[in-house]
Amino acid sequence: MLPDAPVMQDGIWMGNGEGRSGTILVRISVKQQKITDIVVVSQSESSFAQEAINKMVARALQKQALLHRDVDAISGATLTSNGVIDAVNMAIRAAMGEADTGKLIYKDGTCDIAVVGAGGAGLSAAVEAASHGNLRIVVLEKQGILGGNTNYSTGGINAAGTDAQKKAGIQDTPDLYYEDTMRGGKQKNIPSLVRSLVDHAAATISWLSSLGADLSDVGLMGGSSVKRTHRPKGGAAIGPHLMKVLWDAANKSSVDIRTSNKVVGLLSDKGTVTGVKVENADGSTYNLHAKAVVIATGGFGANLEMVTHYQPSLASFASLNHPGATGDAFSWLADIDGSTIQMEYIQIHPTAEAENHILITEAVRGNGAILVNHAGKRFVNEMDTRDVVSAAILSQEKGEAFLVFDNAVRRSLTSIETYANQHLLTEGADAASLAASIGLPPVPFAATLSRYAAFQKAGADEDFSRAEMPFALDTPPYYAVRVKPAIHHTMGGIRVDTDMHVLRSDNTPVPGLFAAGEVTGGIHGANRLGGNGVADITVNGRIAGQHAAATVIAR
Ligand code: FUM
Repeated sequence: MLPDAPVMQDGIWMGNGEGRSGTILVRISVKQQKITDIVVVSQSESSFAQEAINKMVARALQKQALLHRDVDAISGATLTSNGVIDAVNMAIRAAMGEADTGKLIYKDGTCDIAVVGAGGAGLSAAVEAASHGNLRIVVLEKQGILGGNTNYSTGGINAAGTDAQKKAGIQDTPDLYYEDTMRGGKQKNIPSLVRSLVDHAAATISWLSSLGADLSDVGLMGGSSVKRTHRPKGGAAIGPHLMKVLWDAANKSSVDIRTSNKVVGLLSDKGTVTGVKVENADGSTYNLHAKAVVIATGGFGANLEMVTHYQPSLASFASLNHPGATGDAFSWLADIDGSTIQMEYIQIHPTAEAENHILITEAVRGNGAILVNHAGKRFVNEMDTRDVVSAAILSQEKGEAFLVFDNAVRRSLTSIETYANQHLLTEGADAASLAASIGLPPVPFAATLSRYAAFQKAGADEDFSRAEMPFALDTPPYYAVRVKPAIHHTMGGIRVDTDMHVLRSDNTPVPGLFAAGEVTGGIHGANRLGGNGVADITVNGRIAGQHAAATVIAR
Protein backbone atom coordinates (compact mmCIF):
# COMPACT_ATOMS: atom_id res chain seq x y z
CA MET A 1 0.00 0.00 0.00
CA LEU A 2 1.22 3.52 -0.72
CA PRO A 3 2.66 5.25 2.38
CA ASP A 4 -0.03 7.92 2.53
CA ALA A 5 -2.95 5.77 1.38
CA PRO A 6 -5.86 5.62 3.82
CA VAL A 7 -5.56 2.62 6.14
CA MET A 8 -8.07 -0.19 6.28
CA GLN A 9 -9.98 -0.47 9.52
CA ASP A 10 -10.19 -3.90 11.14
CA GLY A 11 -13.49 -5.71 10.63
CA ILE A 12 -15.57 -7.48 8.03
CA TRP A 13 -16.44 -5.51 4.90
CA MET A 14 -18.68 -6.34 1.98
CA GLY A 15 -18.61 -5.39 -1.68
CA ASN A 16 -20.35 -6.37 -4.88
CA GLY A 17 -19.74 -6.12 -8.58
CA GLU A 18 -21.41 -7.31 -11.78
CA GLY A 19 -19.78 -10.31 -13.45
CA ARG A 20 -20.80 -11.89 -16.75
CA SER A 21 -23.81 -13.73 -15.31
CA GLY A 22 -24.86 -11.67 -12.32
CA THR A 23 -23.80 -10.13 -9.06
CA ILE A 24 -20.59 -11.26 -7.35
CA LEU A 25 -20.65 -10.65 -3.60
CA VAL A 26 -17.45 -10.74 -1.55
CA ARG A 27 -16.63 -10.45 2.11
CA ILE A 28 -13.16 -9.34 3.20
CA SER A 29 -11.74 -9.65 6.70
CA VAL A 30 -9.24 -7.03 7.80
CA LYS A 31 -6.99 -7.54 10.82
CA GLN A 32 -4.24 -5.15 11.83
CA GLN A 33 -4.81 -3.22 8.60
CA LYS A 34 -4.21 -6.28 6.42
CA ILE A 35 -6.70 -8.28 4.39
CA THR A 36 -6.54 -11.70 6.02
CA ASP A 37 -9.32 -13.39 4.11
CA ILE A 38 -11.52 -12.89 1.06
CA VAL A 39 -14.61 -15.04 0.67
CA VAL A 40 -16.78 -14.97 -2.44
CA VAL A 41 -20.12 -15.28 -0.69
CA SER A 42 -22.25 -15.64 -3.79
CA GLN A 43 -21.85 -15.56 -7.55
CA SER A 44 -23.38 -17.25 -10.56
CA GLU A 45 -20.59 -17.27 -13.13
CA SER A 46 -20.14 -20.28 -15.41
CA SER A 47 -17.82 -23.11 -14.36
CA PHE A 48 -15.35 -21.96 -16.96
CA ALA A 49 -14.91 -18.64 -15.13
CA GLN A 50 -14.37 -20.15 -11.67
CA GLU A 51 -10.63 -20.42 -11.93
CA ALA A 52 -10.52 -16.73 -12.83
CA ILE A 53 -12.44 -15.92 -9.64
CA ASN A 54 -10.00 -17.96 -7.56
CA LYS A 55 -7.03 -16.27 -9.23
CA MET A 56 -8.52 -12.81 -8.71
CA VAL A 57 -9.07 -13.54 -5.01
CA ALA A 58 -5.47 -14.78 -4.66
CA ARG A 59 -4.24 -11.69 -6.51
CA ALA A 60 -6.19 -9.35 -4.23
CA LEU A 61 -4.88 -11.09 -1.13
CA GLN A 62 -1.35 -10.73 -2.40
CA LYS A 63 -1.74 -7.12 -3.49
CA GLN A 64 -3.43 -5.85 -0.30
CA ALA A 65 -4.66 -2.77 -2.16
CA LEU A 66 -7.18 -1.63 -4.75
CA LEU A 67 -7.10 -3.65 -7.97
CA HIS A 68 -7.03 -2.16 -11.46
CA ARG A 69 -9.30 -3.45 -14.19
CA ASP A 70 -6.75 -3.16 -17.04
CA VAL A 71 -3.80 -4.53 -15.08
CA ASP A 72 -5.29 -7.17 -12.82
CA ALA A 73 -8.07 -8.79 -14.87
CA ILE A 74 -7.51 -12.34 -16.12
CA SER A 75 -7.48 -12.31 -19.90
CA GLY A 76 -10.23 -14.44 -21.43
CA ALA A 77 -12.46 -13.84 -18.39
CA THR A 78 -12.54 -10.07 -18.34
CA LEU A 79 -16.18 -9.57 -17.35
CA THR A 80 -15.93 -12.00 -14.43
CA SER A 81 -12.58 -10.54 -13.37
CA ASN A 82 -13.98 -7.03 -13.44
CA GLY A 83 -16.93 -8.13 -11.32
CA VAL A 84 -14.50 -9.48 -8.70
CA ILE A 85 -12.32 -6.38 -8.97
CA ASP A 86 -15.30 -4.07 -8.42
CA ALA A 87 -16.54 -6.16 -5.50
CA VAL A 88 -13.15 -6.37 -3.79
CA ASN A 89 -12.47 -2.68 -4.40
CA MET A 90 -15.84 -1.73 -2.94
CA ALA A 91 -15.06 -3.76 0.19
CA ILE A 92 -11.56 -2.26 0.47
CA ARG A 93 -13.00 1.23 0.07
CA ALA A 94 -15.54 0.50 2.77
CA ALA A 95 -12.68 -0.66 5.03
CA MET A 96 -10.88 2.60 4.28
CA GLY A 97 -13.99 4.60 5.14
CA GLU A 98 -14.18 5.73 1.53
CA ALA A 99 -17.13 3.71 0.32
CA ASP A 100 -19.17 6.81 0.04
CA THR A 101 -16.88 8.87 -2.14
CA GLY A 102 -19.04 10.67 -4.66
CA LYS A 103 -22.28 9.90 -2.84
CA LEU A 104 -24.86 12.65 -2.55
CA ILE A 105 -25.29 14.36 0.79
CA TYR A 106 -29.00 14.80 1.43
CA LYS A 107 -30.83 17.58 3.29
CA ASP A 108 -34.29 17.59 4.92
CA GLY A 109 -36.96 16.55 2.46
CA THR A 110 -40.27 14.83 1.89
CA CYS A 111 -41.53 11.74 0.12
CA ASP A 112 -44.67 9.60 0.10
CA ILE A 113 -43.19 6.36 1.40
CA ALA A 114 -39.84 5.83 3.13
CA VAL A 115 -38.69 2.21 3.08
CA VAL A 116 -35.93 1.40 5.55
CA GLY A 117 -33.69 -1.38 4.26
CA ALA A 118 -32.85 -2.43 0.70
CA GLY A 119 -32.96 -6.22 1.05
CA GLY A 120 -35.63 -8.45 -0.45
CA ALA A 121 -38.42 -7.17 1.82
CA GLY A 122 -37.63 -3.49 1.33
CA LEU A 123 -37.35 -3.69 -2.44
CA SER A 124 -40.49 -5.86 -2.70
CA ALA A 125 -42.35 -3.19 -0.72
CA ALA A 126 -40.94 -0.38 -2.84
CA VAL A 127 -41.59 -2.04 -6.19
CA GLU A 128 -45.14 -2.99 -5.20
CA ALA A 129 -45.92 0.47 -3.80
CA ALA A 130 -44.59 2.08 -6.97
CA SER A 131 -47.15 0.16 -9.01
CA HIS A 132 -50.00 1.91 -7.16
CA GLY A 133 -49.59 5.33 -8.67
CA ASN A 134 -47.21 8.17 -9.07
CA LEU A 135 -45.72 7.96 -5.58
CA ARG A 136 -42.37 9.30 -4.45
CA ILE A 137 -40.67 6.33 -2.80
CA VAL A 138 -37.28 6.49 -1.12
CA VAL A 139 -35.39 3.38 0.04
CA LEU A 140 -32.74 3.99 2.69
CA GLU A 141 -29.94 1.45 3.09
CA LYS A 142 -27.24 1.84 5.73
CA GLN A 143 -24.81 -0.49 3.95
CA GLY A 144 -22.86 0.54 0.87
CA ILE A 145 -24.51 -2.26 -1.07
CA LEU A 146 -28.04 -3.55 -1.54
CA GLY A 147 -29.33 -6.95 -0.55
CA GLY A 148 -28.73 -7.60 3.14
CA ASN A 149 -29.23 -11.25 4.06
CA THR A 150 -31.13 -11.80 0.81
CA ASN A 151 -27.77 -11.75 -0.95
CA TYR A 152 -26.82 -14.89 1.01
CA SER A 153 -30.07 -16.69 0.49
CA THR A 154 -29.70 -19.89 -1.48
CA GLY A 155 -32.41 -22.53 -1.05
CA GLY A 156 -35.42 -20.84 -2.63
CA ILE A 157 -38.92 -19.52 -2.02
CA ASN A 158 -41.87 -21.59 -0.85
CA ALA A 159 -45.29 -21.45 -2.47
CA ALA A 160 -48.12 -23.93 -3.00
CA GLY A 161 -50.21 -24.49 -6.10
CA THR A 162 -47.87 -22.80 -8.57
CA ASP A 163 -47.57 -23.41 -12.29
CA ALA A 164 -44.04 -24.76 -11.81
CA GLN A 165 -45.33 -27.33 -9.31
CA LYS A 166 -48.19 -28.32 -11.62
CA LYS A 167 -45.78 -28.72 -14.52
CA ALA A 168 -43.64 -31.04 -12.40
CA GLY A 169 -46.69 -33.04 -11.29
CA ILE A 170 -46.41 -31.92 -7.66
CA GLN A 171 -49.72 -31.86 -5.82
CA ASP A 172 -49.77 -29.15 -3.21
CA THR A 173 -52.25 -26.77 -1.64
CA PRO A 174 -52.09 -23.69 0.57
CA ASP A 175 -53.74 -25.80 3.31
CA LEU A 176 -50.93 -28.38 3.24
CA TYR A 177 -48.37 -25.57 3.19
CA TYR A 178 -50.15 -24.03 6.21
CA GLU A 179 -50.04 -27.32 8.13
CA ASP A 180 -46.33 -27.86 7.39
CA THR A 181 -45.46 -24.31 8.45
CA MET A 182 -47.43 -24.54 11.70
CA ARG A 183 -45.99 -27.98 12.51
CA GLY A 184 -42.45 -26.79 11.69
CA GLY A 185 -43.02 -23.77 13.95
CA LYS A 186 -44.21 -26.03 16.83
CA GLN A 187 -47.67 -24.43 16.51
CA LYS A 188 -46.23 -21.24 18.03
CA ASN A 189 -46.77 -19.25 14.82
CA ILE A 190 -49.51 -16.59 14.68
CA PRO A 191 -52.12 -18.47 12.60
CA SER A 192 -53.47 -15.41 10.75
CA LEU A 193 -49.96 -14.47 9.57
CA VAL A 194 -49.29 -18.01 8.33
CA ARG A 195 -52.67 -18.13 6.58
CA SER A 196 -51.88 -14.88 4.79
CA LEU A 197 -48.40 -16.11 3.83
CA VAL A 198 -49.59 -19.39 2.32
CA ASP A 199 -52.56 -17.77 0.56
CA HIS A 200 -50.46 -15.08 -1.13
CA ALA A 201 -47.33 -17.08 -1.94
CA ALA A 202 -48.32 -18.49 -5.35
CA ALA A 203 -49.41 -15.03 -6.56
CA THR A 204 -46.06 -13.68 -5.40
CA ILE A 205 -44.24 -16.28 -7.50
CA SER A 206 -46.27 -15.07 -10.49
CA TRP A 207 -45.46 -11.45 -9.62
CA LEU A 208 -41.72 -12.13 -9.33
CA SER A 209 -41.82 -14.10 -12.59
CA SER A 210 -43.56 -11.18 -14.29
CA LEU A 211 -40.65 -9.01 -13.17
CA GLY A 212 -38.22 -11.45 -14.81
CA ALA A 213 -37.39 -13.96 -12.07
CA ASP A 214 -36.65 -17.57 -13.04
CA LEU A 215 -38.38 -19.74 -10.42
CA SER A 216 -38.84 -22.77 -12.62
CA ASP A 217 -37.00 -25.37 -10.52
CA VAL A 218 -38.85 -26.78 -7.49
CA GLY A 219 -36.99 -28.60 -4.72
CA LEU A 220 -37.55 -30.09 -1.29
CA MET A 221 -36.57 -28.51 2.02
CA GLY A 222 -36.69 -29.97 5.54
CA GLY A 223 -40.14 -30.21 7.13
CA SER A 224 -42.06 -29.72 3.87
CA SER A 225 -44.36 -32.58 2.85
CA VAL A 226 -43.80 -31.95 -0.86
CA LYS A 227 -41.42 -30.11 -3.16
CA ARG A 228 -42.45 -26.44 -2.92
CA THR A 229 -39.20 -24.47 -2.79
CA HIS A 230 -38.88 -22.49 -6.03
CA ARG A 231 -35.48 -21.47 -7.37
CA PRO A 232 -33.78 -20.71 -10.69
CA LYS A 233 -33.20 -23.47 -13.23
CA GLY A 234 -30.73 -26.11 -12.11
CA GLY A 235 -31.14 -25.16 -8.45
CA ALA A 236 -29.06 -21.98 -8.55
CA ALA A 237 -29.03 -19.65 -5.55
CA ILE A 238 -32.19 -17.59 -5.20
CA GLY A 239 -30.92 -14.52 -3.34
CA PRO A 240 -28.57 -12.75 -5.80
CA HIS A 241 -31.01 -13.54 -8.64
CA LEU A 242 -33.94 -12.04 -6.79
CA MET A 243 -32.00 -8.95 -5.78
CA LYS A 244 -31.09 -8.28 -9.40
CA VAL A 245 -34.71 -8.69 -10.52
CA LEU A 246 -36.03 -6.41 -7.75
CA TRP A 247 -33.29 -3.85 -8.26
CA ASP A 248 -34.02 -3.64 -12.00
CA ALA A 249 -37.74 -3.28 -11.25
CA ALA A 250 -37.10 -0.56 -8.66
CA ASN A 251 -34.94 1.36 -11.11
CA LYS A 252 -37.60 1.09 -13.81
CA SER A 253 -40.14 2.48 -11.34
CA SER A 254 -37.87 5.40 -10.45
CA VAL A 255 -37.61 4.36 -6.81
CA ASP A 256 -34.94 6.53 -5.16
CA ILE A 257 -32.48 4.10 -3.52
CA ARG A 258 -29.95 5.73 -1.20
CA THR A 259 -27.13 3.47 -0.01
CA SER A 260 -24.90 4.47 2.91
CA ASN A 261 -27.92 6.34 4.31
CA LYS A 262 -28.51 5.01 7.80
CA VAL A 263 -31.86 5.54 9.45
CA VAL A 264 -31.22 6.39 13.10
CA GLY A 265 -34.79 6.92 14.30
CA LEU A 266 -38.43 7.51 13.45
CA LEU A 267 -40.13 10.91 13.30
CA SER A 268 -43.54 11.00 14.90
CA ASP A 269 -46.28 13.38 15.86
CA LYS A 270 -48.71 12.38 18.63
CA GLY A 271 -48.15 8.69 17.95
CA THR A 272 -48.37 8.89 14.14
CA VAL A 273 -45.14 8.10 12.31
CA THR A 274 -44.28 10.99 10.00
CA GLY A 275 -40.88 10.02 8.60
CA VAL A 276 -37.35 9.00 9.49
CA LYS A 277 -34.18 10.62 10.71
CA VAL A 278 -31.26 9.64 8.48
CA GLU A 279 -27.49 9.80 8.77
CA ASN A 280 -25.71 10.80 5.55
CA ALA A 281 -22.50 9.16 4.37
CA ASP A 282 -20.54 12.07 5.88
CA GLY A 283 -22.16 11.71 9.32
CA SER A 284 -24.51 14.70 8.98
CA THR A 285 -28.21 13.98 9.53
CA TYR A 286 -31.43 14.94 7.79
CA ASN A 287 -35.15 14.42 8.31
CA LEU A 288 -37.06 12.66 5.57
CA HIS A 289 -40.76 13.34 6.12
CA ALA A 290 -43.04 10.62 4.75
CA LYS A 291 -46.74 9.78 4.76
CA ALA A 292 -45.90 6.14 5.42
CA VAL A 293 -42.78 4.31 6.60
CA VAL A 294 -41.97 0.63 6.00
CA ILE A 295 -39.37 -0.93 8.28
CA ALA A 296 -37.57 -3.71 6.38
CA THR A 297 -34.26 -3.71 8.19
CA GLY A 298 -33.87 -7.48 8.62
CA GLY A 299 -33.04 -9.37 11.77
CA PHE A 300 -30.35 -9.16 14.45
CA GLY A 301 -28.39 -12.34 13.71
CA ALA A 302 -25.08 -10.45 13.37
CA ASN A 303 -25.50 -8.75 16.76
CA LEU A 304 -24.10 -11.34 19.14
CA GLU A 305 -24.83 -9.17 22.16
CA MET A 306 -28.50 -9.03 21.26
CA VAL A 307 -28.62 -12.69 20.25
CA THR A 308 -27.16 -13.81 23.57
CA HIS A 309 -29.42 -11.42 25.49
CA TYR A 310 -32.36 -13.43 24.18
CA GLN A 311 -30.60 -16.81 23.84
CA PRO A 312 -27.54 -17.06 26.13
CA SER A 313 -26.94 -20.62 24.86
CA LEU A 314 -25.80 -19.23 21.48
CA ALA A 315 -22.76 -17.38 22.85
CA SER A 316 -20.20 -19.60 21.11
CA PHE A 317 -21.99 -19.87 17.76
CA ALA A 318 -20.79 -18.32 14.51
CA SER A 319 -23.28 -16.30 12.46
CA LEU A 320 -24.28 -16.74 8.83
CA ASN A 321 -25.66 -13.20 8.72
CA HIS A 322 -24.40 -10.20 6.78
CA PRO A 323 -22.64 -7.65 9.01
CA GLY A 324 -25.54 -5.18 8.84
CA ALA A 325 -28.03 -7.54 10.53
CA THR A 326 -27.71 -5.71 13.84
CA GLY A 327 -31.34 -5.11 14.79
CA ASP A 328 -31.14 -1.30 14.87
CA ALA A 329 -34.89 -0.86 14.36
CA PHE A 330 -35.82 -2.39 17.70
CA SER A 331 -34.53 0.66 19.55
CA TRP A 332 -36.91 2.93 17.59
CA LEU A 333 -40.06 1.31 18.93
CA ALA A 334 -40.27 2.65 22.47
CA ASP A 335 -41.39 6.20 21.53
CA ILE A 336 -44.38 4.95 19.55
CA ASP A 337 -45.21 1.95 21.78
CA GLY A 338 -44.37 -0.51 18.98
CA SER A 339 -44.32 -4.05 20.35
CA THR A 340 -42.27 -7.20 19.70
CA ILE A 341 -42.96 -10.91 19.90
CA GLN A 342 -41.00 -14.16 20.36
CA MET A 343 -37.60 -12.46 20.37
CA GLU A 344 -36.07 -15.56 21.97
CA TYR A 345 -36.79 -17.73 18.92
CA ILE A 346 -33.48 -17.69 17.06
CA GLN A 347 -32.80 -20.30 14.42
CA ILE A 348 -29.50 -22.05 13.98
CA HIS A 349 -28.96 -23.59 10.55
CA PRO A 350 -27.61 -27.15 10.69
CA THR A 351 -25.11 -26.91 7.86
CA ALA A 352 -22.73 -23.98 8.01
CA GLU A 353 -19.34 -24.90 6.57
CA ALA A 354 -17.29 -25.27 9.73
CA GLU A 355 -14.28 -23.09 8.91
CA ASN A 356 -15.54 -20.12 6.87
CA HIS A 357 -19.12 -20.11 8.18
CA ILE A 358 -20.63 -20.21 4.72
CA LEU A 359 -24.19 -21.46 4.40
CA ILE A 360 -24.39 -24.85 2.72
CA THR A 361 -27.94 -24.84 1.49
CA GLU A 362 -30.43 -27.34 2.82
CA ALA A 363 -31.17 -28.02 -0.83
CA VAL A 364 -28.02 -30.20 -0.90
CA ARG A 365 -29.75 -32.53 1.55
CA GLY A 366 -33.04 -32.04 -0.27
CA ASN A 367 -31.35 -33.23 -3.45
CA GLY A 368 -29.95 -36.31 -1.70
CA ALA A 369 -26.95 -35.70 0.60
CA ILE A 370 -26.66 -37.49 3.93
CA LEU A 371 -25.05 -36.49 7.23
CA VAL A 372 -22.51 -38.72 8.95
CA ASN A 373 -20.68 -38.27 12.25
CA HIS A 374 -17.01 -38.84 13.11
CA ALA A 375 -17.75 -42.55 13.45
CA GLY A 376 -18.84 -42.59 9.79
CA LYS A 377 -22.48 -43.23 10.70
CA ARG A 378 -25.78 -41.50 9.94
CA PHE A 379 -27.53 -40.21 13.04
CA VAL A 380 -30.68 -38.33 11.96
CA ASN A 381 -33.32 -38.01 9.26
CA GLU A 382 -31.48 -35.38 7.22
CA MET A 383 -34.78 -33.87 6.05
CA ASP A 384 -36.25 -33.30 9.48
CA THR A 385 -36.82 -29.71 10.58
CA ARG A 386 -33.78 -27.52 11.27
CA ASP A 387 -34.16 -27.52 15.03
CA VAL A 388 -34.10 -31.33 15.07
CA VAL A 389 -31.17 -31.68 12.66
CA SER A 390 -29.13 -28.96 14.39
CA ALA A 391 -29.68 -30.56 17.81
CA ALA A 392 -28.66 -33.94 16.41
CA ILE A 393 -25.42 -32.54 14.97
CA LEU A 394 -24.59 -30.72 18.19
CA SER A 395 -24.89 -33.98 20.12
CA GLN A 396 -22.26 -35.70 17.93
CA GLU A 397 -18.53 -35.76 18.65
CA LYS A 398 -17.12 -32.19 18.33
CA GLY A 399 -20.66 -30.91 17.71
CA GLU A 400 -20.14 -31.28 13.98
CA ALA A 401 -20.84 -33.62 11.08
CA PHE A 402 -19.95 -34.29 7.46
CA LEU A 403 -22.39 -33.61 4.67
CA VAL A 404 -21.72 -36.40 2.16
CA PHE A 405 -22.93 -36.79 -1.41
CA ASP A 406 -21.92 -38.20 -4.77
CA ASN A 407 -21.62 -36.92 -8.28
CA ALA A 408 -25.31 -37.54 -9.04
CA VAL A 409 -26.30 -35.07 -6.29
CA ARG A 410 -23.64 -32.62 -7.42
CA ARG A 411 -24.90 -32.67 -10.99
CA SER A 412 -28.47 -32.06 -9.79
CA LEU A 413 -27.81 -28.74 -8.01
CA THR A 414 -25.96 -25.76 -9.47
CA SER A 415 -25.32 -24.25 -6.02
CA ILE A 416 -22.84 -27.05 -5.33
CA GLU A 417 -20.55 -25.66 -8.05
CA THR A 418 -20.22 -22.49 -6.01
CA TYR A 419 -19.05 -24.51 -3.01
CA ALA A 420 -16.61 -26.41 -5.22
CA ASN A 421 -15.19 -23.16 -6.47
CA GLN A 422 -14.89 -21.85 -2.94
CA HIS A 423 -12.80 -24.97 -2.20
CA LEU A 424 -15.28 -26.16 0.39
CA LEU A 425 -15.60 -29.71 -0.95
CA THR A 426 -13.29 -32.59 -0.08
CA GLU A 427 -13.32 -35.10 -2.91
CA GLY A 428 -12.62 -38.83 -2.89
CA ALA A 429 -12.46 -41.13 -5.90
CA ASP A 430 -14.30 -43.72 -3.82
CA ALA A 431 -15.72 -44.07 -0.32
CA ALA A 432 -12.41 -45.30 1.13
CA SER A 433 -10.38 -42.39 -0.17
CA LEU A 434 -12.98 -39.84 0.96
CA ALA A 435 -12.97 -41.45 4.43
CA ALA A 436 -9.17 -41.24 4.53
CA SER A 437 -9.20 -37.56 3.52
CA ILE A 438 -11.71 -36.48 6.17
CA GLY A 439 -10.49 -38.80 8.92
CA LEU A 440 -13.42 -41.22 9.10
CA PRO A 441 -13.03 -44.95 9.83
CA PRO A 442 -13.33 -46.42 6.30
CA VAL A 443 -15.16 -49.64 7.09
CA PRO A 444 -18.15 -48.18 9.00
CA PHE A 445 -18.34 -45.32 6.49
CA ALA A 446 -18.49 -47.72 3.52
CA ALA A 447 -21.09 -49.76 5.41
CA THR A 448 -23.17 -46.61 5.97
CA LEU A 449 -23.14 -45.85 2.24
CA SER A 450 -24.10 -49.41 1.25
CA ARG A 451 -26.88 -49.52 3.84
CA TYR A 452 -28.24 -46.17 2.61
CA ALA A 453 -28.07 -47.35 -1.02
CA ALA A 454 -30.08 -50.44 -0.08
CA PHE A 455 -32.71 -48.29 1.69
CA GLN A 456 -32.88 -45.97 -1.29
CA LYS A 457 -33.42 -48.84 -3.69
CA ALA A 458 -36.06 -50.39 -1.44
CA GLY A 459 -37.73 -46.99 -0.95
CA ALA A 460 -37.67 -47.24 2.87
CA ASP A 461 -35.17 -45.77 5.32
CA GLU A 462 -35.28 -48.33 8.15
CA ASP A 463 -32.96 -46.29 10.35
CA PHE A 464 -34.38 -42.74 10.31
CA SER A 465 -37.55 -42.87 8.16
CA ARG A 466 -36.31 -40.34 5.65
CA ALA A 467 -39.11 -40.07 3.11
CA GLU A 468 -37.27 -38.76 0.03
CA MET A 469 -33.99 -40.38 -1.02
CA PRO A 470 -33.41 -39.07 -4.53
CA PHE A 471 -30.13 -40.91 -5.22
CA ALA A 472 -28.48 -44.13 -3.99
CA LEU A 473 -25.18 -42.28 -3.51
CA ASP A 474 -23.36 -44.89 -5.57
CA THR A 475 -21.98 -42.60 -8.29
CA PRO A 476 -18.37 -41.66 -7.49
CA PRO A 477 -16.56 -39.43 -6.97
CA TYR A 478 -17.77 -38.68 -3.45
CA TYR A 479 -17.74 -35.31 -1.73
CA ALA A 480 -17.85 -34.12 1.86
CA VAL A 481 -18.20 -30.78 3.66
CA ARG A 482 -17.52 -30.47 7.41
CA VAL A 483 -20.51 -28.64 8.88
CA LYS A 484 -21.50 -27.12 12.21
CA PRO A 485 -24.74 -25.32 13.12
CA ALA A 486 -24.57 -21.49 13.06
CA ILE A 487 -26.91 -18.58 13.80
CA HIS A 488 -29.13 -18.16 10.76
CA HIS A 489 -32.41 -16.35 11.31
CA THR A 490 -34.02 -14.33 14.08
CA MET A 491 -37.63 -15.47 14.02
CA GLY A 492 -38.99 -13.06 16.60
CA GLY A 493 -39.42 -9.38 15.91
CA ILE A 494 -41.86 -6.50 15.52
CA ARG A 495 -45.49 -7.46 16.02
CA VAL A 496 -47.59 -6.89 12.89
CA ASP A 497 -51.10 -7.63 11.64
CA THR A 498 -51.84 -9.25 8.29
CA ASP A 499 -51.68 -5.85 6.56
CA MET A 500 -48.16 -5.45 8.01
CA HIS A 501 -49.17 -2.53 10.24
CA VAL A 502 -46.84 -2.35 13.24
CA LEU A 503 -48.88 -3.07 16.37
CA ARG A 504 -48.77 -1.25 19.68
CA SER A 505 -48.91 -3.13 22.95
CA ASP A 506 -52.71 -2.71 23.01
CA ASN A 507 -52.96 -4.39 19.56
CA THR A 508 -53.88 -1.18 17.70
CA PRO A 509 -51.77 -0.21 14.68
CA VAL A 510 -49.21 2.58 14.86
CA PRO A 511 -50.58 5.04 12.25
CA GLY A 512 -48.24 5.43 9.28
CA LEU A 513 -45.94 2.53 10.18
CA PHE A 514 -45.52 -0.85 8.49
CA ALA A 515 -42.89 -3.57 8.77
CA ALA A 516 -42.00 -6.63 6.71
CA GLY A 517 -39.45 -9.42 6.53
CA GLU A 518 -37.05 -10.74 9.15
CA VAL A 519 -37.54 -7.66 11.34
CA THR A 520 -41.07 -8.90 12.10
CA GLY A 521 -41.98 -11.78 14.40
CA GLY A 522 -44.61 -14.46 14.85
CA ILE A 523 -44.81 -15.86 11.32
CA HIS A 524 -42.35 -18.68 11.76
CA GLY A 525 -43.08 -19.64 15.36
CA ALA A 526 -40.33 -21.57 17.11
CA ASN A 527 -38.72 -22.94 13.95
CA ARG A 528 -38.78 -21.55 10.42
CA LEU A 529 -39.03 -23.92 7.48
CA GLY A 530 -36.40 -23.58 4.76
CA GLY A 531 -37.80 -21.51 1.90
CA ASN A 532 -40.19 -19.56 4.15
CA GLY A 533 -37.70 -16.74 4.72
CA VAL A 534 -37.78 -15.63 1.09
CA ALA A 535 -41.53 -16.28 0.95
CA ASP A 536 -41.96 -14.01 3.99
CA ILE A 537 -39.86 -11.13 2.64
CA THR A 538 -41.48 -11.07 -0.77
CA VAL A 539 -45.10 -11.84 0.17
CA ASN A 540 -45.12 -9.53 3.17
CA GLY A 541 -42.88 -6.92 1.55
CA ARG A 542 -45.51 -6.67 -1.16
CA ILE A 543 -48.37 -6.51 1.35
CA ALA A 544 -46.59 -3.75 3.28
CA GLY A 545 -46.04 -1.87 -0.01
CA GLN A 546 -49.73 -2.22 -0.99
CA HIS A 547 -51.00 -0.95 2.36
CA ALA A 548 -48.42 1.82 2.63
CA ALA A 549 -49.49 3.00 -0.84
CA ALA A 550 -53.17 2.80 0.13
CA THR A 551 -52.45 4.90 3.24
CA VAL A 552 -50.79 7.58 1.12
CA ILE A 553 -53.50 7.56 -1.54
CA ALA A 554 -56.26 7.81 1.09
CA ARG A 555 -54.76 10.94 2.67
O1 FUM B 1 -30.51 -23.77 3.48
C1 FUM B 1 -30.93 -22.80 2.88
O2 FUM B 1 -30.80 -22.65 1.67
C2 FUM B 1 -31.66 -21.79 3.64
C3 FUM B 1 -32.83 -21.38 3.21
C4 FUM B 1 -33.74 -20.66 4.12
O3 FUM B 1 -33.35 -20.37 5.25
O4 FUM B 1 -34.89 -20.42 3.76
